Amino acid sequence: MASALQAWLEQINAHESESAVLRGGEPGHGHGHGGGGARSQVRQDNPDRTDDPVLNALYEVVDASTTVLDVGGGAGRYAIPLASRAKHVTVVEPSGGSVEELESIASERGIANITVIQSDWDTTKVEQADIVLCSLVLHHVSDVEPFIRKMGRKAKHRVMAVEMMEFPGMIESPFYQRVHDSNPTPLPAIADIMRVLWEMDIYPDLEMFPSTPPVLETDKVGALEYLRRRIAVVEGTPEDDRLQSAMTELLQETPGGLVVKGVKPQRLGIVSWRP
Ligand SMILES: C[S@@+](CC[C@H](N)C(=O)[O-])C[C@H]1O[C@@H](n2cnc3c(N)ncnc32)[C@H](O)[C@@H]1O
Repeated sequence: MASALQAWLEQINAHESESAVLRGGEPGHGHGHGGGGARSQVRQDNPDRTDDPVLNALYEVVDASTTVLDVGGGAGRYAIPLASRAKHVTVVEPSGGSVEELESIASERGIANITVIQSDWDTTKVEQADIVLCSLVLHHVSDVEPFIRKMGRKAKHRVMAVEMMEFPGMIESPFYQRVHDSNPTPLPAIADIMRVLWEMDIYPDLEMFPSTPPVLETDKVGALEYLRRRIAVVEGTPEDDRLQSAMTELLQETPGGLVVKGVKPQRLGIVSWRP
């Protein structure tokens, strides 16, 4: 049987090659630098929210003396609210668009205790911090062992990785199936991360959070634009016709937004350990 690290690498490589074929060799959108995602996964949440159980769990380990290093922090979904409680937050983020968004939100809110380093984690030089946070990034990283080891070296107290129990991209998979007549190789999820960590002799805690409905978007125009981008569909093609009929069949309006029928509610968890 392949090692967990080998299986992880093969899974991400298979996913990336399928995605590249669909895009005619273009890099993917949404699963990689730049992020993007269904509303329940990667939206730019209100920094003052009090109803985000993951953020509330992070608040429990952060006070005015805590330094945080947010690896692949995107546009600051956690970094911005954490900065209001922490001593300092450093974000390492390669995507120029996300860095720009984060810096503009920080300046609008007058936040002075965030430093943003525009770089890949693999190559960046950065000081240690009390907490190293990494949310929804690991499933993009094929060579994950050095990435995780570096997080351990940079954490004085704890590494905290936020990930999904159900595989990332599950919400769009019924559309992918109808448009491309195949199922994508899933990206790794929490169970795969646990196997990789155990193989690395790291035995983490796992805190799971309540499930959330599979909300894709709030409106149909936004949902179509999101799905075209995520599953590589060009407007006006036969694939686009199939996508739009799948949307008619699969999307259900709910007070929380457009839910995808047949997709299980999604759960986030924090996988954490002392370095
Ligand atoms: C799905 S987004 C998550 C963003 C943010 N952490 C959140 O939870 O909203 C994934 C992020 O990982 C970043 N990323 C991907 N590969 C990375 C790498 N090698 N080093 C650092 N960040 C990376 C992407 O640019 C993107 O911002």
